[in-house]
Amino acid sequence: MWKAHAKFERHSFVLLIGIILVVSIGGLVEISPLFYLESTIEKVDGVRPYTPLEQAGRDIYVREGCYGCHSQMIRPLRDEVERYGHYSLAAESMYDHPFQWGSKRTGPDLARVGGKYSDSWHVQHLTDPRSVVPESNMPPYKFLAETDLDYRAIEQRLATLKVVGVPYSKAEITNAKADLETQVDAFAGEKSGLKTRYGTKVQQRDYDGDPQRLTEMDALIAYLQVLGTMVDFRTYKAEDPRNLR
Ligand code: HEC
Repeated sequence: MWKAHAKFERHSFVLLIGIILVVSIGGLVEISPLFYLESTIEKVDGVRPYTPLEQAGRDIYVREGCYGCHSQMIRPLRDEVERYGHYSLAAESMYDHPFQWGSKRTGPDLARVGGKYSDSWHVQHLTDPRSVVPESNMPPYKFLAETDLDYRAIEQRLATLKVVGVPYSKAEITNAKADLETQVDAFAGEKSGLKTRYGTKVQQRDYDGDPQRLTEMDALIAYLQVLGTMVDFRTYKAEDPRNLR
């Protein structure tokens, strides 16, 4: 055994072949299961695709590069869990394209910011961060409240996400425009179909404090307010890792 090993150590070419052989066995063992497993993400109750309005808000979040200062992934470490809440589950970002986990925290993690503040706090904070948090170095995004949301292509947006695996139904795609408008209309009532399509927990109201206009601020706040709220952690039980084997 040791004599055979000497051959590897003396001839770099033999060593190279040996390395390739060993690494490819390891690679095969790790990679090949991924081809026949449908998904490596455990399904969790409550996680649903974003509504058209939330998705439009998410697109603004991505466009503005909020990711450069905010992460969206709470790691399973005690200090993070105590500050931000339950650690992030893989399922919670399964419909995120592109994901916004991030690795830079100039500002706090936003994975569970939904419901932490009122809509008007967000309006005030995004308009002028230092008016609510004097030591903040976050830039102001006042223009969002002054810019009408451009959602002419929202159906195509959802259809594109469907191509990469977000399970939007035909009805959700064809009704995208109506659903988007319904979500900012607190008086649209239940018959609109938004809640039948996305569930009764969907929040429906005017977000930016200006019911006359549908602005980018409406969409962004709708997105911020849903972050981390889909899973009910009072009833969520992590799968026992022994059952996953
Ligand atoms: C230059 C870095 C920077 C950028 C870019 C930035 N933020 Fe912030 N953000 C901060 C800092 C620092 C704080 C903490 C102080 C404060 O609350 O203003 C913060 C706080 C926040 C909070 C409050 C979080 C909490 O739990 O208290 C929200 C919500 C937020 N930012 C949203 C956004 C959004 C949305 C964008 C993109 C439109 C954005 N931020 C872009 C730095 C940034």
